[in-house]
Amino acid sequence: MDGAPWSVHHDRGASLLRSGQWEEAAVAYRSAIRCRPDASASHVHLGHSLSHLGHWEQAAAAYRRALDLDPGIVEARVNLGNALLKTSAWKEAVVEYDACLRQRPDDAACHLNRGHALSHLGRWDAAASSYGRAVDLEPGVASSHVSLGDAYCRLKRWEDAAAAYQRALDVDPGADEARRKVAIALSKAGHRRASTEPGNLAEVTVDLEVTSACDAACGFCPRAAMPDKKRLISLDVVESLARDIEKNPVDLIVLCGIGESTLHPELERIVEILAATGTKVEMTTHGGRLDVERFERLVALGLCGVNFSLNANTAQTHREVMRLKGFDRTVANVESILEARDRHHPEITVHVSFVVCDLNQHEVADFVSFWRPKRPSRIWLHPLNNRAGLLSPAVKSVDMREHERRYEGDDLVLVDVFSEIHEEDRLCKVAESMIFISADGEMRLCAMDYQRVTSCGSAKSESLRDMHRSKLERYLRREMDDFCAGCDFCPPATKPAESQGVR
Ligand SMILES: C[S@@+](CC[C@H](N)C(=O)[O-])C[C@H]1O[C@@H](n2cnc3c(N)ncnc32)[C@H](O)[C@@H]1O
Ligand code: SF4
Ligand code: SF4
Repeated sequence: MDGAPWSVHHDRGASLLRSGQWEEAAVAYRSAIRCRPDASASHVHLGHSLSHLGHWEQAAAAYRRALDLDPGIVEARVNLGNALLKTSAWKEAVVEYDACLRQRPDDAACHLNRGHALSHLGRWDAAASSYGRAVDLEPGVASSHVSLGDAYCRLKRWEDAAAAYQRALDVDPGADEARRKVAIALSKAGHRRASTEPGNLAEVTVDLEVTSACDAACGFCPRAAMPDKKRLISLDVVESLARDIEKNPVDLIVLCGIGESTLHPELERIVEILAATGTKVEMTTHGGRLDVERFERLVALGLCGVNFSLNANTAQTHREVMRLKGFDRTVANVESILEARDRHHPEITVHVSFVVCDLNQHEVADFVSFWRPKRPSRIWLHPLNNRAGLLSPAVKSVDMREHERRYEGDDLVLVDVFSEIHEEDRLCKVAESMIFISADGEMRLCAMDYQRVTSCGSAKSESLRDMHRSKLERYLRREMDDFCAGCDFCPPATKPAESQGVR
């Protein structure tokens, strides 16, 4: 072949490219370029051969060389954009796509890929416009509608997101990912299935204790008071609950309680059963047993949010506060989960939380600074709650005003989650807005009932609506006063007169 003219090498490259022999095609095009370094077509096709081989940086260089020789080759421009996308050079990719779209404004693939590059840059408005153009030009591609829905989720435009996912489903009724996402976006948009019956639970969160077991020992969590520290919820209870929730929808189910849900061997099946009701299912966990693969499996089964209770910013404080090993691994897992959320699941919420006490308060600011750039959905700073009087005197609460001031108006940091819930004079906001089911299936007054001394019925045989209504009636009849007397959530109007300073 040596000494053959350019056209022989170039034509041989074309035939090798057609037959999928990428390595050999690249060799032929390189020979062609040696004969005629100014042959822009050989550079373009060398770029294609290298792209097929996944050698994106070299492919980008070949396309650039072609464009140096002839800036008008739009094919080189769009493929340069794609190679840059593959090498995570998002800004440069957008520049090339913009140049390409000036020449070919109706190129749907170019709009779509420009949207991907903009998404990686976090420019969600611009990404949504690009995806919007792509689906207008080529409405028959389900994945483009999903990408548009994902961008709307990041903008919290839940109705638009639901409509985009629905269009993906119209195009491809088998698109299970779109089906799951449409349900989540609709529920975020507040489209709960309407219940006109009295006592509907549409605003209520069910706190479901999947297990009462835990492998940590947080100083602020008085688990020693629990009579049942190893119970696993039975699938019968979960199925009864799911049937009930189908009839009387609730706003949200959080797998939490007083235990560590990730210790239940059938957690995946539990998520699947509950998510099939169409209700949002989230989980609160210490995170020590949740890596990105398990997260992906749970999300595929319908989990739509995870709250990581980290409570520290260093391994030493984490060990002191939670008596749990593996802080660095847990942090690495949460980081990978946030990256997976960014790439594939923008509709999934991932919070990190910190219960502030005397042992860890010095790490609050560092905790916020560490997690802020990783863009969790929220950073929660919880004041220490006294667990209805069970909190060990060894753990001291601290003044939260400094944190409240510092993070006031901060979109990401929320100091005290319950402050967002309206409180009635005579009714505790926790009892009113939440239903707590312990691992044995009993509805308890609230999750402060570590000793299991209250019972409002069993989820195995009674409906949540009836049990919740009777719980609130009993509360208003002041039958819970003894239990609530020492709790710092207890509303002032229910406190005995002397403790309100009235004489
Ligand atoms: C009891 S835990 C159960 C779920 C899981 N084991 C965990 O720690 O995330 C539920 C939540 O309550 C928080 N918590 C526990 N004790 C608390 C206290 N005394 N005051 C405020 N929050 C507390 C935990 O940090 C966690 O976010
Ligand atoms: S707060 Fe959670 S992780 Fe800590 S001891 Fe209680 S249940 Fe376990
Ligand atoms: S006031 Fe009573 S119902 Fe409310 S959180 Fe405290 S113990 Fe539970």
